[in-house]
Amino acid sequence: MSTRTMSPVLLIGGSGHVGARAARALRRLHPDLRIAIGGRDGRRAAAVAAEVGGPTTAVTVDVQRSDLGLEPGASFSAIVTLVKDESSNALKRAQADGVPYIAFSDFVSEIGPLVAHYVARPTRAPVLMLGHTFGGTATLAALHLAQELQSVDAIAIAAVVGADDHGGPASSADFERLRQAGEAALVLDDGRWTWLRGEAATRRVVDAGGAAHVGQALPLSDVVSLAAATDARSIRTDMAARDRAAGGAGPRTELIVEVSGRRRDGSGARLRYDIIDADNLSRLSAYGAVIATERLLGLAGGPPVGPGLYNPESVLDPASVIARLEELGARVRRTPA
Ligand SMILES: NC(=O)c1ccc[n+]([C@@H]2O[C@H](COP(=O)([O-])OP(=O)(O)OC[C@H]3O[C@@H](n4cnc5c(N)ncnc54)[C@H](OP(=O)(O)O)[C@@H]3O)[C@@H](O)[C@H]2O)c1
Repeated sequence: MSTRTMSPVLLIGGSGHVGARAARALRRLHPDLRIAIGGRDGRRAAAVAAEVGGPTTAVTVDVQRSDLGLEPGASFSAIVTLVKDESSNALKRAQADGVPYIAFSDFVSEIGPLVAHYVARPTRAPVLMLGHTFGGTATLAALHLAQELQSVDAIAIAAVVGADDHGGPASSADFERLRQAGEAALVLDDGRWTWLRGEAATRRVVDAGGAAHVGQALPLSDVVSLAAATDARSIRTDMAARDRAAGGAGPRTELIVEVSGRRRDGSGARLRYDIIDADNLSRLSAYGAVIATERLLGLAGGPPVGPGLYNPESVLDPASVIARLEELGARVRRTPA
């Protein structure tokens, strides 16, 4: 089916920090794709829709309502929830309509409801878990490096963000929920799943320019994806904020992915990607959402994805994701080259 005749892709939270960037990137990649920008504030959604241009509309939608507050009969080709789907209402709608669903806001400890909804109706729709670092791009970058190795020992992911870069209110609310739950970070430590808290959850992160930062481990799903996809015994994902004093010209977000292991000739290897974007963390995250959305719909990298429960690495090809990130404007540096 051509993008012109498909029902619109519904971006719930499309007027937010991540959502508006995702809409712009989707529009760049697919000029004819119909996009519906969804949020509770219809005027804000309409303003983003006008700015994105092309066949973009705005819809008032609230994930707290069982009918999402949508007009009866509204039809979408996919439901991408760029906000916490607190009552699984958006997921239920995607399953009822038999269209792809993306969950973008679940920490690794929060996927239970989504898994249960999938298990109850496994043949209804493709359901993609994408609460990973930068919408799955970190996991795919790690797997791209791992492809060069015979065996993987350790994988460390770090997001280095601006000192004041907390995303929008919905991002802050997610981190507040995590804090109130007293939640620790999940890491694979020498083959054992371990929950780390406070000081024990920190590590030193060296950014692309050689500056050191304090990284804090987070309970993101990269760790479980990569533990299932590789034989690594140690896996973690951290976030580090640059010093306020480091300032610099304009926003900047770095994704650092380090993979160590053995090459096929038996020699040891430490491979690293630095993926750098000249915007806040929302844009690299939006790129992840967009790359996954076009893949589920069959607009890039293969036919539409059928019903199932997926992690990003189940549906995306590592090399294609790196290429897409570069095409979208991220700078990708590989060491050793
Ligand atoms: N996986 C990742 O890589 C990744 C990265 C960054 C962020 N995130 C997650 O992405 C989400 C969005 O973050 P953000 O920084 O873009 O937040 P944001 O700027 O606050 O955007 C939230 C968006 O959701 C809408 N919204 C809020 N409550 C809603 C509801 N009940 N029903 C429907 N729409 C609602 C908002 O519009 P209205 O206020 O008009 O409703 C807005 O469009 C957060 O959950 C965050 O944790 C994930």
